[in-house]
Amino acid sequence: FLKYAAIGTLCGVGYVSYALWRESNPREQQPQSATFDNGSRRKTIVVLGSGWGSVSLLKSLDTTQYNVLVVSPRNYFLFTPLLPSTPVGTVELKSIIEPVRSIARRAAGEVKYYEAEALTVDVAKKSVHIKSVSEENDYETDLAYDYLVVGVGAQPTTFGIPGVAQYSSFLKEIPDAQDIRLKIMNSIEKAALLAKDDPERARLLSFVVVGGGPTGAEFAAELRDYVNQDLSKWMPAISKEIKISLVEATPHILSMFDKSLIEYSQQLFTKGNIDLKLKTAVKEVDATTIYAENRDTHAIEKIPYGVLVWATGNAPRAVAKDLMQSLGPEKQNSRRGLVINDRMELAGAEGSIYAIGDCAFFPGLFPTAQVAHQEGHYLATVFDKLHRIDQLKFANESATDASRVQSNNAKIDKIAKKIDKFNYHHYGSLAYIGNEQAIADVTFNGYSHKSAGALTFLFWKSAYLGMCVSLRNKVLVALDWAKVWFIGRDSSV
Ligand code: FAD
Ligand code: NAI
Repeated sequence: FLKYAAIGTLCGVGYVSYALWRESNPREQQPQSATFDNGSRRKTIVVLGSGWGSVSLLKSLDTTQYNVLVVSPRNYFLFTPLLPSTPVGTVELKSIIEPVRSIARRAAGEVKYYEAEALTVDVAKKSVHIKSVSEENDYETDLAYDYLVVGVGAQPTTFGIPGVAQYSSFLKEIPDAQDIRLKIMNSIEKAALLAKDDPERARLLSFVVVGGGPTGAEFAAELRDYVNQDLSKWMPAISKEIKISLVEATPHILSMFDKSLIEYSQQLFTKGNIDLKLKTAVKEVDATTIYAENRDTHAIEKIPYGVLVWATGNAPRAVAKDLMQSLGPEKQNSRRGLVINDRMELAGAEGSIYAIGDCAFFPGLFPTAQVAHQEGHYLATVFDKLHRIDQLKFANESATDASRVQSNNAKIDKIAKKIDKFNYHHYGSLAYIGNEQAIADVTFNGYSHKSAGALTFLFWKSAYLGMCVSLRNKVLVALDWAKVWFIGRDSSV
């Protein structure tokens, strides 16, 4: 048995090493010419964003068929499902990002990347105005497109509540996670300098999360784990004084889940000393205090805080708002995002602009990675068909034989009919609720399965490991989890 186990392990290690080497040594990629061998023009797709939607599109698209230009201020893909684990060090930030260039280099045809932000889109001229993100010598230019894919995601919403933008931290991007970590560590260290009965010490050790959606709930759970499992070893007195509160305007947290799973999670949170403040809507924030209204009594509760994490959902980004405005309120009439049809085409710019992911709005589709991923993949299949139609149309231009033209037209019609509308498959929802437990509401073969607890946590781990965008990410995340299990989380900044 030992002999076979040793051979199996060696083969496994060998395979992973080879796959990692292969991933970091992409094959030679030829620069693409403006035309194909038959003389037809290679069309240009400009993709805005390097998140779930855009990367899914890039991974499924036959990039030899188009000039592909990617524009994003972020030169990496971020695996958001594990972002709540990063401020407390359960998972390292570097483990959940993958450089855009590494994704681009693995494509069959050349993909150009511009580290820039799209500012405006000129729908009539079919061009997008971009600005580099470097602070010095910033550079602005226009990129012409045949097809534009808007996958710019969304930004955290504050609902215009006074003080939120100024005093709270969000949990959307890598710098947000770094900011939260810094604030937590600074608050703990400052509190340690103060006398036990000093009210300032209690304020500094009050960590408040606003928004009981999955972002807020998962982060509160991670924070509680960190305090109970690791900080308690290094600063036992302080760890006992830390108060974690989760403030939610509606009667429940994690409202997207089944009632039984909500109940389970709320009980686990309460048992684990997370102060759940339900039916409590934050109305104002200042440098030290949150003012929240109880939805039943309308009384205003003052909640002193040392660290405030704000997770109340999404709002459209400036470039998306600008695009909505330029297309007019008759076509773009949703405050939630860019209105699209069931083929991901932007209302008012059908045939040339597509929107996917969190920046887009279509009834019944929610702003999740699962939706963005499937939309990106779907769009790649659309572009494949559009390319085949273009090639047939080009062949018709030089065809002298009428029967050839007729046959090509029949093929064009057949392909066009195959551009099906987008059909979303909901595989379910998962969330980490702390204390090595998770909840799952998943669908297999049309049946819905609900589960909660430690086994579900193992399922959560394997599902997210499987979804990581590269083998490098999978290996790093698995090593991070192993590290936490054996030696715990780090307590420094
Ligand atoms: P994003 O992934 O946000 O990517 C947007 C991209 O656009 C970024 O690269 C950004 O830099 C770029 N960009 C921004 N502005 C511009 C501009 N002006 N020009 C060009 N590019 C621009 N969903 C799930 O299904 N499961 C989960 O477990 C889950 N966990 C989450 C945890 C957290 C903490 C968060 C915040 C979200 C989570 N989500 C989850 C939701 C999921 O992350 C989003 O639905 C998903 O990221 C949407 O993909 P996207 O491509 O639309 O946007
Ligand atoms: P969300 O929109 O899901 O939840 C925000 C919560 O904040 C709501 O419950 C809302 O009632 C509450 N809220 C709003 N204003 C408030 C106020 N003033 N005071 C108190 N509470 C207030 O937002 P979230 O969690 O950021 O998620 C965004 C998207 O990302 C969602 O579509 C979500 O499904 C997805 N996501 C999925 C995850 C998963 O599947 N595990 C993890 C994280 C995000």
